[in-house]
Amino acid sequence: MCGISGVVSFHPIDDRLYEGVHHLEYRGYDSCGVAFLENRHIEIRKDIGTVDEVDTKRNLRHLAAHVGIAHTRWATHGKVTRENAHPHTSCGCEFAVVHNGIIANYKELREELKKKGHKFGSETDTEIIAHLIEEHFVRCGDVERAWVGALRQLQGSFALAMISPHEPEHIFCARHESPLIIGVGAESNYVGSDFNAFIDYTKNTVILDDGEYGVVSKDSYSVKSLRSGDVIDKAVTVIPWDSELSRKGGYPHYMLKEIHEQPQAVRTALNIASDDIATVADMVMAAKRTYLLGVGTTYYVALYGQYILATLADLDVSSVSSDEFRYIDKTDASSLVLAVSQSGETYDTVMSLRHAKERGAKTAAVVNVVGSSIARMVDHVILQGSGPEVCVVSTKAALVQMLLLTRLALEIGVRRKVIKPAKHREYEAALTALPGEIETLLNEQSGIIRAAAYRHAHIQNWLFLGRGIYYPIALEAALKMKEVTYIHAEGMPGGFLKHGTLSLVDDKLYTLVMAPPPSCGELHAMTMSSVEEVKARGGFVFGFSYDEKDDIFSERVALAPTHELISPFLPLVGAQLLAYFTATALKRNVDKPRSLAKSVTVA
Ligand code: M6R
Repeated sequence: MCGISGVVSFHPIDDRLYEGVHHLEYRGYDSCGVAFLENRHIEIRKDIGTVDEVDTKRNLRHLAAHVGIAHTRWATHGKVTRENAHPHTSCGCEFAVVHNGIIANYKELREELKKKGHKFGSETDTEIIAHLIEEHFVRCGDVERAWVGALRQLQGSFALAMISPHEPEHIFCARHESPLIIGVGAESNYVGSDFNAFIDYTKNTVILDDGEYGVVSKDSYSVKSLRSGDVIDKAVTVIPWDSELSRKGGYPHYMLKEIHEQPQAVRTALNIASDDIATVADMVMAAKRTYLLGVGTTYYVALYGQYILATLADLDVSSVSSDEFRYIDKTDASSLVLAVSQSGETYDTVMSLRHAKERGAKTAAVVNVVGSSIARMVDHVILQGSGPEVCVVSTKAALVQMLLLTRLALEIGVRRKVIKPAKHREYEAALTALPGEIETLLNEQSGIIRAAAYRHAHIQNWLFLGRGIYYPIALEAALKMKEVTYIHAEGMPGGFLKHGTLSLVDDKLYTLVMAPPPSCGELHAMTMSSVEEVKARGGFVFGFSYDEKDDIFSERVALAPTHELISPFLPLVGAQLLAYFTATALKRNVDKPRSLAKSVTVA
């Protein structure tokens, strides 16, 4: 949801702003730009397009300046035009601002500023901030006071960075409900939406909290409260990831790399201390009601969590999409809200947690990004340690989240005496086998799935069916297909089909079915009856299936026999590959699908 990068340095910026926004492009990529100080003037270079396209047109590299800010945009207010691209400046071009978030009261502020004679060059909410700072500066003559005065007038969410020739050695930055961090380097300091903005240069970061602003110079920084102006002593967090991990490492796309990282990500998650899982289990056991929250993929992870807790722990929890939670939130001090988020910054999930906390609920989360808002705001966080997920489309993070909810369900199942010790040992062994089984699937089935994807890439409509715990898997698989291929794919429970959607089935609509192993008994039989229903209407059914006797599929990807507990994970990996290869067949922008952003930090 827009990426911010900034550098202030003893040395020329050179390519560092370009690299910063390049590494943040997964947050938004419809336009981008830089502002830097040259001979005490602000120079702006911006345009529509990706960072590389704008670099070709405007040259964002080899900058001799020592102070600069940059932005890659995901449009919210105003169309994708050069005028609406950031940075934005004040009338006299004395303040340049980049922004992530939404200013709720921008219309009122814009009208007031217009009356005072300010002229606007864009349709954005961001531009008013530059003019507001200018307005305050005219009165007080001090950049920091003008900055603070302007910020205090803003309502809504913002992460901001600003430069001005009146303070040529500084970057001003601030955060309220949108992430912003400072990178503490040697002879250079940085600002960024996240550490990808500067991970090549430093792993030391200072994470701003809501209501804080920073003043960053070449060799120092200070963080202050926006309300009181008091200096805040902030800890330096060392990012545990290497910049190499954020690179493609020989794969054509991050999505394929991240699919292939799943065995390792699962191993890491299996090594997360049992105490960490036990703490959340304590919280679930103590709560009268547990809500599992996520949105998009993480909602499907939460739904998976609902099924696995019911299955293994005989426990009834509610999974709710974070964007809807506010409408049904009945939490109180006896409730637990357990959120799932890769980025830890998703606005709807952050807001739902905040709301639940205000009502006295306990909170916990499974999060991938260390130091993210959600990781810091909850009572207990399980950091999943899956490493950076750069592709906008979530794969390894989601699969690991499902695995961690399975571990949680096992822990609670044992405590509630639903799972006997021998069964528990069997389940543990199944989980330990999962990384190897994913590896086998990737090695042995990728070619088959790729060929199928290329064969069927012309199909415009898909139904993805699953029953029981395969239902959230089918939903997640359909979302992968939609996101990365732009093909319509609708996930639903197998039993739901005959209540309406069956009317769509013809030879042009393809159906994908996730079939459980035959050891699942009735679930397997019922799933196969859905296959029959579609076939009887002349539909083509593509199946991920464990049983060679499942011979009614029009086309079948054979999965190696496995334990029931981990059986939903393997068709999920298969479906990730199907979506990926269909996207490459259609020459889609795999890592940055149109209209999407990795981290949705606005309402
Ligand atoms: O960072 P989060 O996990 O909180 O993000 C939630 C969704 O925005 C995210 O899962 C989205 O649906 C992805 N594009 C899925 O691939």
